[in-house]
Amino acid sequence: MFLRRNAIPVVKGTKDIFTPEIELIDHINRTADEKYRQYGYKKIETPIMEYTDLFARSIGTYTDIVQKEMFTFSDRKDRSITLRPEGTAGVVRAYLENNFSFNPGITKVHYNGPMFRAERPQKGRLREFHQFGCEAIGSMNVLLDVEIIELHINLLHKLKLKDFTLLINSVGDKNCRKEYTALLDKFLRKNKSKLCENCRSRADTNPLRVFDCKNPTCQEIYNDAPLLTDHLCDECAGHFEKLQSWLKLKTIPFSINKKLVRGFDYYTKTVFEIQSTLLGAQNALLGGGRYDYLIELLGGKPTPAVGTAVGIERLMIALKEQNIPFKPDHKAQVYICTAGNFDEKIVIRLMDHVREHGYIPFYSYEAKSLKAQLKEADKLNCSFSLILGEEEMKKDQIVLRSLEKGSQENIDLNDFKKNISDYLKVKN
Ligand code: HAM
Repeated sequence: MFLRRNAIPVVKGTKDIFTPEIELIDHINRTADEKYRQYGYKKIETPIMEYTDLFARSIGTYTDIVQKEMFTFSDRKDRSITLRPEGTAGVVRAYLENNFSFNPGITKVHYNGPMFRAERPQKGRLREFHQFGCEAIGSMNVLLDVEIIELHINLLHKLKLKDFTLLINSVGDKNCRKEYTALLDKFLRKNKSKLCENCRSRADTNPLRVFDCKNPTCQEIYNDAPLLTDHLCDECAGHFEKLQSWLKLKTIPFSINKKLVRGFDYYTKTVFEIQSTLLGAQNALLGGGRYDYLIELLGGKPTPAVGTAVGIERLMIALKEQNIPFKPDHKAQVYICTAGNFDEKIVIRLMDHVREHGYIPFYSYEAKSLKAQLKEADKLNCSFSLILGEEEMKKDQIVLRSLEKGSQENIDLNDFKKNISDYLKVKN
């Protein structure tokens, strides 16, 4: 990266996004929007900033996100504001603030936008990243868990992604956690001296979060830890059984990972992740689960819910690793070159005509040699050049050059205007 001495660089862990990457992002978002529509989800946009308490209360005070990863600042009236690290808390706040609970039936919403986490940047891990996701609020029925998983697997198939695995687990509810926490507590106390500093503090504040630890020594120790999945109450065990039966019935392959607890305190019962080996260390493409207490925790009446979110940057890495060709579906770009002295009115009229027919005209705007204009057309990925030459124009002709084939022909200007779509056909 070359920067002038006094230039200001992009903020660490954030990045500029350009075309053609943006076209791939648009394609992913359009495909996701279409899938969500098919499953009855309506789009929602919530603000990028929220009061810090919303995330502390929802995600949990003693989680990594709230303890270490939030971008938090005070506004001019000294209120603590946080750039959203995830979308679920904001959606639930909006649900409550706008009385969605009075709507008939289940509230199904989907969203899309930037999220912010002050993590150590690496491949697939940014400080500003983008997610799309959905939340289904208002039912305990396991069918919603299955539907959300199925929707996203269908979506990944539609995007032609192949290499991914669904992992599921259950993190129980208040009933089963009480007894289980005592067991885990005992185990952690016995092994405390061998744990990393972070886990030692988690053992005191929020024991279930020890499973989020990335330290291999700690993970080795947790191989022998009691796991919540083995201590579920009847209701949670039943829910987990039904989840598995439905996934089998729908022929959706899955594995159970009993150590999958995900980094948020709001989860209850079902948690899941889709991981891909194409991603390297940050292998989670999407994550989600149930959060049956969150609405009540944020001031609503008890209302069960389930949702998930997909990391768009990670999805792009996986698609690129798999070399899936992506050709944006738009009409030909046409570069209008001039050779000799020209009345720009002719150029502008031709550009208008090209544009009116849905094609995309380019022009140099600056005096340049024909060679330089053709080079620019190539750089801009234009499929055609229309060359306005003084000699040809006297005969009402123009030169149509196919930049893909490298061939060119003299054509009648009026015929070109009349039959523009025949002349500007591109192979897709
Ligand atoms: P999450 O697992 O934290 O869940 O994030 C979902 C996805 O966002 C991850 O699987 C990953 O692809 C992407 N992601 C997370 N952090 C980063 C990062 N620093 N850089 C790049 N990508 C990242 C949630 O956010 C929950 N709100 C999901 C949910 C919705 N649960 C219920 N409803």
